[in-house]
Amino acid sequence: MQFFDRLLLENRAWADDMKASDPEVFQRLHQGQSPAALWIGCCDSRVPAEQICNAKPGELFIHRNIANLVHEDDANVSSVLEYAINALEVDHIIVCGHRGCGGIQAAVSGGDALQALPYVDRHLGQVKRLVAEHHVALEQFSQLSQKVDHVVELNVIAQVERLAEMRLVTDSWQARRAPSLHGWVYDLASGHLDEVCRREVEGSGSESAEPDWQRAAAG
Ligand code: CO
Repeated sequence: MQFFDRLLLENRAWADDMKASDPEVFQRLHQGQSPAALWIGCCDSRVPAEQICNAKPGELFIHRNIANLVHEDDANVSSVLEYAINALEVDHIIVCGHRGCGGIQAAVSGGDALQALPYVDRHLGQVKRLVAEHHVALEQFSQLSQKVDHVVELNVIAQVERLAEMRLVTDSWQARRAPSLHGWVYDLASGHLDEVCRREVEGSGSESAEPDWQRAAAG
């Protein structure tokens, strides 16, 4: 069987399974969406957003690009942000990077790694600038993979900081005290997600804020 035939066949099996466990699921999803979070992740085929956190259809609004970047002048990510924040009114934006990211590795390696990929090269410009800014700190790592994983974290933090300065986000903070911003990193080797940073609405505290589940447990 061809790969694409398998996918089409698996789709019917998936839909049947979904209906078997929740007979109303597609009727409900057909009515509309109200996702709690916007996910900005990497395109990497090994980091499927919904699967790695067991999210159901309708729970995550998703944008993926190489190395999970936010570009203010990128109409694709900007339109997704605008729709998620102003139309869907998501409460959270998750920026999720991953260890061993090929995009980050290309930016860290420098040289002519991206010569044959001019669009990717241009897209990764901000990561190359980040690598240059942290050039001295990166010298402490002897292995390329360690440098890459360090920049993966720095990059997630940089995207969260960039979001925190965007008018789309700050206007929404003024209007409805949301969304909160979350920086996560996924480890391909363990399948685990870890938080690396968090930004709440300006003035309500940042990294030290208790997560919702802790507040719920305390209350
Ligand atoms: Co990647």
